[in-house]
Amino acid sequence: MPPTNIVDYLRISLIDRCNFRCQYCMPEGAELDYLLKSSLLQDDELLLLLREVFIPLGFTRFRLTGGEPLLRPNLSNLIARIAALPATQDISLTTNGFLLAQQARALYNAGLRRINISLDSLNAETFDSLAGTKGRSRWQQVWQGIQIAHELGFNPLKLNVVVIPGVNDSELLDLAALSIDRAWHVRFIEFMPIGNDALFGDRGWVPSEEIRQRIRDRWGLAEGAVQGNGPADVFQIPGAQGTVGFISQMSECFCDRCNRMRLSADGWLRPCLLNETGQIDLKTGLREGIDPKLLRQQVQTLLQLKPEINYKERESGTTMGYGKTMSQIGG
Ligand code: GTP
Ligand code: 5AD
Ligand code: SF4
Repeated sequence: MPPTNIVDYLRISLIDRCNFRCQYCMPEGAELDYLLKSSLLQDDELLLLLREVFIPLGFTRFRLTGGEPLLRPNLSNLIARIAALPATQDISLTTNGFLLAQQARALYNAGLRRINISLDSLNAETFDSLAGTKGRSRWQQVWQGIQIAHELGFNPLKLNVVVIPGVNDSELLDLAALSIDRAWHVRFIEFMPIGNDALFGDRGWVPSEEIRQRIRDRWGLAEGAVQGNGPADVFQIPGAQGTVGFISQMSECFCDRCNRMRLSADGWLRPCLLNETGQIDLKTGLREGIDPKLLRQQVQTLLQLKPEINYKERESGTTMGYGKTMSQIGG
């Protein structure tokens, strides 16, 4: 029997658009049909779903993702409203950091305290090539956004590095070193070929253990801990203020400890990143006037089925997004 975990973490995609085109997420040439504004779940609809459907079912931890969530109009207001719900125990956001320098203060004032920022490279050229932002470098502005978030006191502040062999793996020790002098939490993520199987050819991905060993050889490595709800295994360079984390979806399946569901920007509830079996169109339900209590029952049924859905995913070992990219699913 597949294990049953408490599922109380909802990843909410606020928008499918992005101002970057990271190769691993929105591969070049991928023709993306962006959602029309009218298809996006509106703030009031999202709040209603949280209050009437998710919170009564035990969800208390919410992460806002995209696409790029900072492109969502009135984001701070939405954050303040979610943070004010008495059931909210944790609200966090994952961003590419490009608009952070200008928005970080408003986000903080709205009640956001923790943030995960993508930073795949310390080298502007590599960064821009991976992020698909050649022409006008974006690295500097992202770096500035990280500094501002740090100065404002976001804590924990996590930096996400998707590791691509031959692209940024020569920098991993420099990236890990960012965790030493500041309480920054650097996480190395195994590249997942989702919706883009051919990308990076046979270069594949770098197993987390290989990266851990390189860090161990340089500084030593101890067990660590940081607040979080995700799948990262956390370690610490001895004496460092921050931690290094490893998200190892390719080398080590963590489906059996899955604690989350995903709500897409157009209101579909997806039981698993890689499997849309049983997904529910909550937005259409709401707009057709279905009683939220009935929607709650549908979600409860999906929650009961989830361990089986995870388990199948794990057995088949697929990394398919049903033709969707990460930006469309909401990584
Ligand atoms: P915290 O631990 O709460 O800070 O968040 P997190 O690590 O869950 O969030 P983040 O958005 O930073 O995600 C980091 C990486 O974990 C991304 O590459 C995600 O795609 C990956 N990830 C998150 N949830 C899942 C999941 O259910 N399955 C898989 N395979 N990967 C996931
Ligand atoms: N494999 C692993 N991680 C990915 N992300 C986006 N696409 C992929 C992929 N194919 C990460 C981003 C971001 C987080 C939300 O998901 O780097 O940090
Ligand atoms: Fe945009 Fe994030 Fe995808 Fe990069 S990984 S294209 S920043 S949504």
